[in-house]
Amino acid sequence: MTHFHYKENILHCEDSPVQEIAEEFGTPLYLYSKQQLLDNFRSIDGAFAGIDHVTCYALKANSNHSLLKLLAEEGAGADAVSSGEIHLALKAGFDPTKITFAGVGKRDDEIEYALKKNIFSFNVESQQELDVLNAIAGRLGTKARIALRINPDIDASTHPYISTGLKTNKFGIDISYAMIAFKYASSLPNLQVDGIHTHIGSQILKLEPFMQTAQTVVNLVKELKSIGIDIHHIDFGGGFGVTYKNAIKHPLLPVEETNGAEEAPANDIFISSVLPILKTAGCKLVIEPGRSIIANTGILVTKVLYMKDNGVKKFVIVDAGMNDLLRPSLYNAYHQIVPLTVQQRESDTVDVVGPVCETGDFFARDRELPTVERGEYLAVLTAGAYGIVNASHYNARLRPAEVLVNGVKVRVIRERETFDDL
Ligand SMILES: Cc1ncc(COP(=O)(O)O)c(C=O)c1O
Repeated sequence: MTHFHYKENILHCEDSPVQEIAEEFGTPLYLYSKQQLLDNFRSIDGAFAGIDHVTCYALKANSNHSLLKLLAEEGAGADAVSSGEIHLALKAGFDPTKITFAGVGKRDDEIEYALKKNIFSFNVESQQELDVLNAIAGRLGTKARIALRINPDIDASTHPYISTGLKTNKFGIDISYAMIAFKYASSLPNLQVDGIHTHIGSQILKLEPFMQTAQTVVNLVKELKSIGIDIHHIDFGGGFGVTYKNAIKHPLLPVEETNGAEEAPANDIFISSVLPILKTAGCKLVIEPGRSIIANTGILVTKVLYMKDNGVKKFVIVDAGMNDLLRPSLYNAYHQIVPLTVQQRESDTVDVVGPVCETGDFFARDRELPTVERGEYLAVLTAGAYGIVNASHYNARLRPAEVLVNGVKVRVIRERETFDDL
């Protein structure tokens, strides 16, 4: 998070003190760094130098219009999982010929919408979907360009809810059935078989599962060639993990225990570990990173409302809740939480919880935190991915505002909701 840092013990995003922004725009507040976003995209896209490729940003991670526009201007493509996301991508200026459409449950109207927009590729996830897509394309008098999403049955060693490349997961077509599925797809008149797609999960920290997947895909390309099916592109998906613990280090902040296993390799390392393998297939390469582009560009700023000690536990009750950032409640996900000003002070072991009527409404449990006071702000770090997109009106709470920082400039990129939005 190089663009979130303490300057004279005060947390800044780029050149702007976070506290001043929180006071001006209120909390809970999502706050993003433009430069971090650009750096992240360029570190991934740049790792492909000289190779025919497209980096399709996965909109599901964060689909704020202003952030999408920045990525579209950088030449990114878009990975969508609904017609709504295709619509948002087009509105933000993404080139339709750089849009991929994945998802196990594409509705007929969504397929029709995407066909009319002439997107780059439908990433098809079942044989029945092939039939439906073929029929709809035929009715519209067009051909659908497709990749088959292959489930390679490879363990990505991530949280079970975000593992997608195992036989027991709902995603893709089983690798043992891949040849039959490709032959069948090639026989359908309104489909143009163009690629192989894989995406084995999210928040993957090890390189081995990616390398194993790359080898599986390359082998399949060769096998398909031997029976006369030429594959032109490999869509390798996303899933590159990010570092949530010790995202910001400072001598006055507690060091978070990691058992050495939770630090993510740099973005370009993920790419350079698989490129030598993927290149041997001689295909155009597509990747679909979401989290690794957007997670550490954003933080959630929240205000301490109350402190409570029931003799067994100490609670810090903040004004953001699980409706604003669901990840801790949903996956027990870890986010570093830091005060906006660091100074010599005692620390306490606390639960940081929100106002929502659920015991599962927490941001941290049994967390060592510098002692805080009512009215003080805290930053929940690395909150840019799968944050605002999962926000809801639960408990009739209004969704937070989002602001974008560019040096000393700050602008609202989504207004805070009002009662009229409920
Ligand atoms: C098909 C597909 N592509 C890309 C992504 C983005 O993954 P990540 O945000 O982990 O890079 C996902 C997310 O699960 C996905 O399902």
